[in-house]
Amino acid sequence: MKKLVVSKRGRNVIASPIRKFLPLMQAAEAKGTKVFRLNVGDPDLAPPPEFLQTVKKYNLPTLAYAPSPGIKAHMVAWQKYYKQFGLSLELNQMLPTVGCAEAIMLALQAVADFGDEIIVFEPLYASYKSFSVMTGIKLIPITLPIEKNFAMPPASVIEKKITARTKAIVIINPDNPTGKLWSPAELNTVVKIAKKHNLFIISDETYREIRFNGKPYCLLSDKSARQNVILTDSVSKRFSMPGARIGCVASFNKEIMSAILKFAQARLSAGTLEQLGLVPLLNNSRPYVSKVVKEYKKRQKVVAEGLKKIKGAVFKPAQGAFYQAVGLPIKDAEDFVRFMIGKFSYQGKTVMVTPMQDFYITPGKGKNEIRIAYVLNTKDLKVAMDILARGVAAYGRQ
Ligand SMILES: Cc1ncc(COP(=O)(O)O)c(C=O)c1O
Repeated sequence: MKKLVVSKRGRNVIASPIRKFLPLMQAAEAKGTKVFRLNVGDPDLAPPPEFLQTVKKYNLPTLAYAPSPGIKAHMVAWQKYYKQFGLSLELNQMLPTVGCAEAIMLALQAVADFGDEIIVFEPLYASYKSFSVMTGIKLIPITLPIEKNFAMPPASVIEKKITARTKAIVIINPDNPTGKLWSPAELNTVVKIAKKHNLFIISDETYREIRFNGKPYCLLSDKSARQNVILTDSVSKRFSMPGARIGCVASFNKEIMSAILKFAQARLSAGTLEQLGLVPLLNNSRPYVSKVVKEYKKRQKVVAEGLKKIKGAVFKPAQGAFYQAVGLPIKDAEDFVRFMIGKFSYQGKTVMVTPMQDFYITPGKGKNEIRIAYVLNTKDLKVAMDILARGVAAYGRQ
């Protein structure tokens, strides 16, 4: 008789590198150890109160599906939100999604078929690796070395990776996990390559405003690349509300938006209540967003100060998002994390960070690197950074 077997993609997909240490962490906490969690990009800040206030006012007799292209008031609010970045988008050039995660999935499936290739820069947000297994789209990595502060290589290096099956290049700006901001020159190079080779650019701007210098930038505002760029966006980080599960996908390319709409119709809609609750936030995002950016900037400094005390740590202060990538004087960051959670504590406390290995596609890369998500208030973060330094020293003495 035929056996029940899980699909190859079901077997091949990786567990979230961020969540795979959860059982160890829970065991440490059960023993009474306080674990400072610097591993998940889950903001600790309270979201704007207008969200729940609006949701609580909902008084329709049913809770219906929202339309696939979005609730009109919600999309008009996104339209207004994008105006501040010099972007004039029509309602049919945007579509609300279940987080940026779904926006990425829709964009990938709109540009590429099974076996097609997408160029990405590694290290990269690990979910792209899972999306690639789920969709059968191949990721072709270009490594950005930590020693060069994740600077983009010359155009020729990228162009060498382009084949007849290449469909798009992914840019995450500001970047997770590196905290890198893409410079105008780097973005220009990517745009030029995309236009020369007729490629799409999937521009993941989940962290757009969370940058510590300069003005937030949206790649869709580059008029020269309008047909190439597909923007994937999210409210998760800028409004500290990943649980709302709302994102947005936008493009000036009619065919792309038409394909995305048809995909979106199959999965029906993004949440009705969440779309309504977000209207006042998108209509007036600046006050809240500038407050949280100030807070992340303070935290970034605390992290950088803490890292300076670790001999042999390789890093440049992050320029955006709320992550710091660091090369540590260790051989295996996964082993180090297991040590920190399972064997080490200082005054009953320890720190959980994310090993960077799974953020790479190329085997063996990033083995000594960790990512710190600064989702902790500055007072606790100082303590956590001190514990991390002590942990690195103790690990070295083992
Ligand atoms: C770069 C990047 N893209 C997309 C996502 C997914 O975001 P969302 O919560 O909107 O699905 C994340 C989440 O951490 C991210 O860091």
